Amino acid sequence: MKTPLTTRRNLLLAALPLALAGDSWAQPSKLDPTPACGENHGPTPSQTEGPYFTPNSPLRTSLYEPGMDGTRLRVGGLALDRNCRPLSNVLVDLWHADAQGRYDNSGYRLRGHQFTDAEGRWQFDTILPALYPGRTRHLHVKLQPRDGRVLTTQLYFPADTASNARDRIFDKRLLMNTAGDAEQMIARYDFVLAVG
Ligand SMILES: [Fe+2]
Repeated sequence: MKTPLTTRRNLLLAALPLALAGDSWAQPSKLDPTPACGENHGPTPSQTEGPYFTPNSPLRTSLYEPGMDGTRLRVGGLALDRNCRPLSNVLVDLWHADAQGRYDNSGYRLRGHQFTDAEGRWQFDTILPALYPGRTRHLHVKLQPRDGRVLTTQLYFPADTASNARDRIFDKRLLMNTAGDAEQMIARYDFVLAVG
């Protein structure tokens, strides 16, 4: 029998202090998977890339630079095919606003890309972006599998209930699972690409 989502959420919240205790910064993989592949779940929905995408971002797993303001964020998850199989070597490009809601449109601050590992995992260390006028808090991402089309989409934070509800682009299927506090957060999202 499937566990109701509300109960799962409660269990997740109860487990969070443990997930973070004894580990200076826990792994996103400790969070529940986001509903992703398999029955009743299609590929991850695409969304507009918005006006601030810059191609050719640096290859790196940390976008954090010393002195940056904001809550530290470790975000990661999996890239899966339609049959829930992990996809390795998927290019994952992440870009987002800073703690004042600004994008770097002249350089590559808070922009970077990496490739999923043999188990389909991706993970970035960065900071929590601020909301900016007209938008709820979000991360931008592009995923390019070796054989398949690029997925361009955005990821959202479940704690931003009111601003998510007001946002015209927001899609609840793109909500991450998150944990943490004002100092540091972890967030997880598992992408499903239209391959396989
Ligand atoms: Fe944006």
